Amino acid sequence: MRRCSETLEAEMTPAEQQLLQNLIRKENFSGPHLEIGTAAGGTLCKMMKCFEEQTRPKFVIVDRMTYFPDQLSIVKENLATNGLSEKGVDFRTTTSAEAFALAEKQDDHFDFMLVDASHKILAVMADLRWMRLLNVGGIACFHDYADKFPGVKLSIDRFLSRYKNYEKIGLADTLLAIRKTAPCETREVSPLDRAYSVMMYLPLEVRRKINKSKKQKAA
Ligand SMILES: C[S@@+](CC[C@H](N)C(=O)[O-])C[C@H]1O[C@@H](n2cnc3c(N)ncnc32)[C@H](O)[C@@H]1O
Repeated sequence: MRRCSETLEAEMTPAEQQLLQNLIRKENFSGPHLEIGTAAGGTLCKMMKCFEEQTRPKFVIVDRMTYFPDQLSIVKENLATNGLSEKGVDFRTTTSAEAFALAEKQDDHFDFMLVDASHKILAVMADLRWMRLLNVGGIACFHDYADKFPGVKLSIDRFLSRYKNYEKIGLADTLLAIRKTAPCETREVSPLDRAYSVMMYLPLEVRRKINKSKKQKAA
């Protein structure tokens, strides 16, 4: 059982939560906000509480809701406990890949995104396609941007080196914030980027399993 399913807390450090809330309050965007990977909704509640109820933009949540039993009910309970109406939340209970295909088809756009789902390189590179749906001037935050999560770190470093219409605007612990400064000349995440993630997947998995078995032996 995940700890957050009982505590209903955000799976983020205080410094990461502070950066997230400072950005949301400062920008005060009116367009939809997206969280990919919500766990118990701890961070979702904190983000939503940055706004007054009357002026709060729509929040879209993408999560396959299999992180722990009854995940969706627990997220809803968390909202209620925080005095937040679930009416303002558009729950998309599916994988990030399926939700992206639907969002792209219906031409959804977002002012703010928090990406915190699977940390494997194939998934993170696929998640970066959501940047196509980020409005110019909008902000995307990525959790666990650290050497400890090479799938996240390598994908984002490659993305930032190839797509010059994004700039880093903040980093607190492992939460990285970037801004889209101009429209993209080519669609974010090319077949070459995807091929890179396919090529890196196996070596990263082997390294992860070796590290895991070393830790288990040491314990
Ligand atoms: C690390 S937790 C998110 C923590 C949350 N953002 C917070 O700050 O409390 C990861 C979440 O991503 C979801 N998830 C993982 N892989 C996913 C995928 N491929 N598609 C959709 N959701 C996914 C899990 O169900 C889980 O709820």
